[in-house]
Amino acid sequence: MNSNFLEDKVALITGAGSPNGMGQAIALQLAEHGANIVVSDIEKGTPDPFQKNYGYEFGAYKGLDLAVSKIEDLGRKALAIRADVRNSKDVKSLIKSTRKEFGRIDILVNVAGGAWGTALIKDYEESEFIKTFDVNMFGTFRVCKYALPYLIRKKGVIINFSSGAAKRTNMFYSAYAASKAAIISFTETLAIEYGPRGLRTFALLPGMIETDLSKFEIAATSDILNMPIEEVIRHYKEATPLGIFGKPIDVANLVTFLCSDNASFLTGLSIPVTGGLDIANPVSEIKL
Ligand SMILES: NC(=O)c1ccc[n+]([C@@H]2O[C@H](COP(=O)([O-])OP(=O)(O)OC[C@H]3O[C@@H](n4cnc5c(N)ncnc54)[C@H](O)[C@@H]3O)[C@@H](O)[C@H]2O)c1
Repeated sequence: MNSNFLEDKVALITGAGSPNGMGQAIALQLAEHGANIVVSDIEKGTPDPFQKNYGYEFGAYKGLDLAVSKIEDLGRKALAIRADVRNSKDVKSLIKSTRKEFGRIDILVNVAGGAWGTALIKDYEESEFIKTFDVNMFGTFRVCKYALPYLIRKKGVIINFSSGAAKRTNMFYSAYAASKAAIISFTETLAIEYGPRGLRTFALLPGMIETDLSKFEIAATSDILNMPIEEVIRHYKEATPLGIFGKPIDVANLVTFLCSDNASFLTGLSIPVTGGLDIANPVSEIKL
């Protein structure tokens, strides 16, 4: 396949503000293959006390504008738009600005997400539980809803970020896991409703991918279990058949493939990107 196979196409990626995150890695790789890119993120997220405690921060201020210059260095056009996916007005204006600048949308990647207010279910603040759904599930819905008319016109591709947690959840993560599980079903309905018009849709289920978000999760787990960070990492790696964590580029490689004509007969799939973490028993007694 021609390496510029996305030439003239337009990709919109939410949650792309962090230079260490998956959204930005995807934006850069789609640009390398020829696409013009709109990167979006909330201006500056407000970390909850739990996130703050473990040093997780998020938002466009971390490097959304930097993404634009990196994409332009690759010879593509790029636009950065601040939008909170919880806010319909922001989302409508994100789609409007994309259309105004580029006149089309071929690829939508809904990366924006996270876990807020993590706690045992009996202690979970209702507002934080709802916020987690508002970003992950309802945010994905909002961006899809308002971008759909343009994506259908181009027989486009939608890639929604679920999580390995949708299949194998853990204590404290009820809201996160449930919202990510809902994304799988939502993505399947999208495939059924719009497949006949040529739109393809996918849910990605990353395992442990090295980003600021997973660093925060590991630090929190270490503290909650009173186990050194290195030990938490060792446990995760031992439970992963490939024995390593993924990198944002591993996920970007899959997104690029799904956007290509080589994936033209695929749709509605939920795809783990986990190094095998999703299939393995966490305890392996025998090392070959
Ligand atoms: N890192 C992992 O191991 C892992 C595993 C499974 C799933 N995920 C999912 O992958 C996606 C990307 O995570 P990442 O690890 O690259 O971390 P990240 O922090 O780089 O990405 C999350 C992005 O979502 C943005 N965001 C949060 N609230 C928002 C809002 N209201 N409006 C718009 N944007 C908002 C953040 O600003 C951030 O840029 C997330 O949906 C996450 O749940 C990550």
